[in-house]
Formats: sequence, structure tokens, C-alpha cells
Amino acid sequence: VTDNRQPPLPEGLAKAAASVLADLPADRGPAWLHAGAVHAHTASTGFYRHRRPRITTLRGGLDCIAKQHPALEYWGALAAELDADTERRITAFWRAHPLPADHDAKVETYPLGDAWQALSLAAVKSRALCQTPTWAGALLARLSYTRALDEWDRPRIIDPACGTGHLLVEAFRAAHALRARRPVFPDPDTALDAVHGVDCDPHAVATAAWRLLTLWRQRHNLHGVVPDLADAPLHLAVADALLDDTEPLLAPGSYQAVIANPPYITPRDPAATAAIRRRWPEVCHRRFPLSLPFHARMMDLLAPGGHCAQLTSNAFMKREFGKRYVEQYLPRFQMEWVIDSSSAYIPGHGTPTVIMVHRNTAPDDRPVHAILGKQGEPSRPVWPAIGHVAEAIVAEVTRIDDYDRFTRRAAAHQVPTTRVR
Ligand SMILES: C[S@@+](CC[C@H](N)C(=O)[O-])C[C@H]1O[C@@H](n2cnc3c(N)ncnc32)[C@H](O)[C@@H]1O
Repeated sequence: VTDNRQPPLPEGLAKAAASVLADLPADRGPAWLHAGAVHAHTASTGFYRHRRPRITTLRGGLDCIAKQHPALEYWGALAAELDADTERRITAFWRAHPLPADHDAKVETYPLGDAWQALSLAAVKSRALCQTPTWAGALLARLSYTRALDEWDRPRIIDPACGTGHLLVEAFRAAHALRARRPVFPDPDTALDAVHGVDCDPHAVATAAWRLLTLWRQRHNLHGVVPDLADAPLHLAVADALLDDTEPLLAPGSYQAVIANPPYITPRDPAATAAIRRRWPEVCHRRFPLSLPFHARMMDLLAPGGHCAQLTSNAFMKREFGKRYVEQYLPRFQMEWVIDSSSAYIPGHGTPTVIMVHRNTAPDDRPVHAILGKQGEPSRPVWPAIGHVAEAIVAEVTRIDDYDRFTRRAAAHQVPTTRVR
């Protein structure tokens, strides 16, 4: 794996941020400070370069971003909350602790998402935000969306717990990368149009929106076109993916691929727990974690034959709450992959994980690919993507999946022959 797209955040960033956050209101401070990172990153990509009047302040930058697309209005409302002193301190903080830089020719945006995890304790503790490492995101996209791209014209994909958008970025990349092989997604617009995301955290969704638009704009710029961002087909929503049945993006059966790294926490609020239990009785048993109803939601979003790939907690395999899920729910679907990722290093994350891929069809006698872990990391890798376990998983999946694709395509091209005597 030569994935250098997700460099680690600067050493000590969270600790340094804590001293700034101590003087800001607990409920708004993390969002304000993170907005400073979004502004600094936007400046580093050259986005403000030709804006008139010139953008010189954090508030000016956020107002400028907010005007680009209706999905970005959040940033303008946030700018209006900042007073001059807070703005000065936030700007000084990011000057002293710059995020790993992006530049015009190679916009990646991963550090923006990772910074929200480093700054917002509420996002981590109460909503279980944990950024998906790029190697895992690329793998989930490959095992679901690349399959769907082989099978449908312009398949649609959603991440119903999209957070700051790491998996959406992978999905956009997968769709746009394909333009060279097949004219399914001939331009960045059609690729972006296929990608959908929902999360209950408005700040994370606003971050995902700006990241996707930044990538979309950069892809257009590569071809010498300067697009109007307001025209970008962006499909993101702030919603409770487990309980909101009125959100159009959560309409059942609408997608050919669904990917997620769902929250693994056990819900604490008794009323919410009861409502989730009522809505997803087929998987909610005893003290269930949110990952189980999330899987049920993911399968519910899939069209018949669609592909679902998730990185999730493996606790259901060992605990009583997983009994109903394992014995009654999972056997309804075709399982395609089960990959033990429990000893892969995931920053800020102690929960042992598994990658599972299902297809929305009844099970048949096709084989399930299983990759079982034998050894853990000898020491903590600095870059998650080049840990030994991540590298071994990616290499093995690539080997098996390349062979599978070859045999599927060969079978599809086989012409029935008639023997002539
Ligand atoms: C493990 S993180 C996903 C990270 C994301 N895929 C990424 O790597 O950028 C889990 C996400 O689930 C979201 N979440 C938790 N409960 C939710 C709910 N009921 N509806 C929608 N999103 C929810 C959290 O806000 C968090 O962003």
C-alpha cells in the first residue's frame, strides 16, 4: 500500500487545542475552532486567490464559503457567532499548528475530517465519530461500489453515517476514476451526482459538503473549467438515519451500494433506545449497540441485488445481544466477504473490528471469502495505511477480488456454442 493521502495530524494538536477550547463555550468552541481549520485549508488550496474583495479574515472566508452552495449555509451562520477576539485567537492557533497541507494540484482534505475527531469530544463520545482510515474506506468502496459499477449503469451509493465524509470521498473517487474505462461517469458532475450521505451531526455534514465540493471543483479545474459551485449536484442531509423515515435520501431500495463505518456505541437515552428497538425489532436484542440497527438500515436502503460493505465492531460475535442478529437476520442475505480487521490499527479506536460485505439477495451456494487474522501489529504504525495488518488485508483482498472479477467477466463474455456435426 503506498497510500500517503492521510498523513497523521500534527503531534500534540489535541492537547494544544484543549487549552484554547478551555476559554471557549463548551457547546460551540470545537465547531468554531474547526471552522478555523476549514478556512486555513481553503486558503491553502488557492480558493480565495481571485476573490474580490480580498478575503483576509476567518469570518470573511466562512461567509465566502457559505455563499457557494445552499448546502454550505451552515458556515455563514457559524461565522456570525464569532467575535473579533475569538476570531483572532482561532486564526493564530492554526497559524501555529497548520494541518498537513494540500495544494491546488493535489487536494485530499483528509486532515480536515480527522481534525473534527481531534477537537470535538461530543462527536467522539456521544455520536461515536471515528474517522475511517483511507485503506479501509478504499476497500469498502471497492467491494461494494466497484462491484455495482460493473453491474449497473450509473449506480447510486450512500453512506448513512457519513460523518465528515471519508467514505464519500472514496466513493466519488471510485466513480470519477472509472471515466477512463467506461463513459458511465463522463465528468465530475455525474460522479458527484451518484454519491449520497446522511449524518446526525450538522457540523460533520457541512464539512463533508465542503470536502466533496473542493474535490469536484479541483477535478473540473484539471480540465481548465472554473465551475460555479452552486450547480454542483450535492446530496447530503442532516438526519437520524435510524429513525427518520421522512428524509428522501433514506428512501428504501434506492441504492445499488451502501457503505458505512456505523457508530458502535450502545444508546444511552431510554426513549431513543425504545424507539430504535421498535423500528428495528429484527436485530435489536438486549443491550444492543447502534451498529446492528445500522446494518438493518443499510440493507433496507439497498435495491435488490445491491452491495453493502461495512467496517463494524465484532462484539456481536461474542455477546448475547448478537444472537438474534447472527441466527435470524444475517442468514437472510448473501454474505460475500468477512474480513477480520480486529488487529488493524485504527487511530483513536480501541474496538476490535470486522469488515463484512453482503448482497441484497437470498443466500445461495456461492463461496464466502473469509480473511482470518493470525497476528497483530508488532508496534503502533505511524501511518495507519502502512501497518502490516492493513497491508496484508489489502493485498489479499486485491488478489482474490482481481481473480473474481476476471472470472465474472470471462463468464459474461462466454458465447453459447452449438456443436456442428
Ligand atoms: C464511525 S463514524 C463514521 C465516520 C465516517 N464514515 C468517516 O470515516 O468519515 C460514525 C458516525 O455516525 C454518526 N451517527 C451516530 N448516530 C447516528 C444516527 N442515528 N444517524 C445518523 N448518523 C449517526 C456520527 O455522527 C458519526 O459521524
